[in-house]
Amino acid sequence: MEKIRINEVASYVPAKVVTNDDLGEIMDTSDEWISSRTGIKQRHISLNENTAGLCSKVAIKLLQASSWSPESIDLIIVATMSPDSYTPATAALVQGKIKAVNAIAFDVSAACSGFVYGMSVAEGFLLQEDIKRVMLIGGEVLSKVIDWSDRTSAVLFGDGAAGVLLEKSESDSGILARNLKTYGELGDKLEAGKTDAIAEFPRMGKHEISAFSMSGRDVYTFATHKVPQSIQNAATKAGIELEQIDWFVMHQANSRIVTQISKKLQQPIEKFPMNIAEYGNTSAASVPLLLDELVKKGKIKRGQIVALSGFGGGLTVGTQIIKY
Ligand code: ACO
Repeated sequence: MEKIRINEVASYVPAKVVTNDDLGEIMDTSDEWISSRTGIKQRHISLNENTAGLCSKVAIKLLQASSWSPESIDLIIVATMSPDSYTPATAALVQGKIKAVNAIAFDVSAACSGFVYGMSVAEGFLLQEDIKRVMLIGGEVLSKVIDWSDRTSAVLFGDGAAGVLLEKSESDSGILARNLKTYGELGDKLEAGKTDAIAEFPRMGKHEISAFSMSGRDVYTFATHKVPQSIQNAATKAGIELEQIDWFVMHQANSRIVTQISKKLQQPIEKFPMNIAEYGNTSAASVPLLLDELVKKGKIKRGQIVALSGFGGGLTVGTQIIKY
């Protein structure tokens, strides 16, 4: 049966690095607290470059690494919780920038599960006759939605973008199975960019948009329960045992969450690589950012089985099991 496979992967992070010690200079926190609670040592922060800018750099890298021309792309999807604007979509800005004149483009909003959800959206389109080449990018400039006076969330996040080219494949490589779930009743556990309806007409002046806020404990409990379930369900659907999965590429929100997931699944932690120390939580970018690093280092090889999992705002959770 025809499958949807990853042709190329690429990433881009802004140059500015902010260490935990740097944060200790501007808020009441310390490297000791942040690294012991989260595994984060530093993050990249974007100055003057918005989400579409980071994603466009990834798009150009993807095109350079492949033999695909911009005109040959049929669909561009950007997964983000920090778009440049309500409209146009960040994906449309990328389409314009790289002159992918034949591509339709739109965003997917599923926070840190966005890339994993986006893979299923891409898969659905690729099963149509006229869609053959898809660019899927997860990109975030979270630094612009964070309240930098709130130490409980400010220390966790970073900026970056990463993505893949997806195509139909006649080989046995590709998406084997997926499991996606949304728990909308828990939506208020993680919010950003909230806008209220007007209370009086007309409302004059500036529009208010809320900063990021999160119930860290609740999200921690959610992730450590729902991600293992999602991986197990996807593996069952793919008809494989967890032991057959070579790599678990988990959303990088907290190293303790990843460790807990490995324990619950009774799989060795060596199969759960992490790069959170360097980038922090980059939301929709984190799964492809780690995937790119592992592919470039030659750790993930063609033919290996990989589980890609995200979780976050919505609340959402999702897993794709792929043969790379
Ligand atoms: N520096 C120093 N002290 C701090 C900081 C900080 N940056 N932040 C909080 N504290 C203090 C608190 O004030 C509290 O002090 P108190 O005991 O005197 O009241 C103490 O540290 C413990 O705070 P908790 O919030 O209980 O800390 P916890 O151990 O739960 O760790 C954390 C917090 C790291 C946020 C954890 O709950 C977590 O990782 N949750 C998951 C969050 C997550 O993954 N979110 C991303 C989801 S993805 C997405 O969609 C964006």
